[in-house]
Amino acid sequence: MMQRPAEVRHPVLASLYDGFMRPQEKLLGVGRQRERLMADARGRVLEIGFGTGLNLPYYPPVDHLTATEPDPNMRRRAGERVASIESTFTVDLLGAPAEALPVPDGSADTVVACLVLCTIGDVRAALAEVRRVLAPGGRLLVLEHVRSAAPAVTWLQHAATPVWRNLAGGCHLDRETVVEVEAAGFMFEHLWRSGDGRGSFVQGRARMTAG
Ligand SMILES: C[S@@+](CC[C@H](N)C(=O)[O-])C[C@H]1O[C@@H](n2cnc3c(N)ncnc32)[C@H](O)[C@@H]1O
Repeated sequence: MMQRPAEVRHPVLASLYDGFMRPQEKLLGVGRQRERLMADARGRVLEIGFGTGLNLPYYPPVDHLTATEPDPNMRRRAGERVASIESTFTVDLLGAPAEALPVPDGSADTVVACLVLCTIGDVRAALAEVRRVLAPGGRLLVLEHVRSAAPAVTWLQHAATPVWRNLAGGCHLDRETVVEVEAAGFMFEHLWRSGDGRGSFVQGRARMTAG
């Protein structure tokens, strides 16, 4: 039987999140990666773990966006961002964890997972949900930090994760997200990885494999 996902509620993190991300968006190029990620968004889009909605300004004119975010503190800020940005498409903001998406089977042409697969409690359940809600021919777009392929960095990621998880709402620095996505029945059509293919950031577009 599927376990009920734990409640997500981090008011301090939510209040600090945009300020924490601001320098990374510009100086570390996260904004540029968001732009690249969103260039592939098409049709009916579902974004999981929408946070405060930092991806919203990068969306092309899609048909519709369903944005899910389980933390009410993040969601309130996302609602303010949605209201303050003029879009050509409508946005539905839903309170739900990715492990139990309140949307019908096959109802999304694109699912966006951005800096969230590192944090989700049960990433396998979440990816099974992504498969369920994607329409045939749909695509999963990911921008994530992952376990490095460099042993010294991996060691540091393992060592820091127990502390970092507590500070950053459950975020794992050492999750093998690309492996998890492929094991869940996806194949990357495009995959960029920092550090000449061995670093800790990935951005990619995946389609479902048969079966
Ligand atoms: C690092 S933030 C990323 C927010 C946003 N996607 C972005 O790119 O800025 C991680 C987000 O995942 C959300 N989250 C935590 N557990 C989750 C779950 N089980 N399902 C979906 N989202 C979750 C958090 O509330 C938080 O908003």
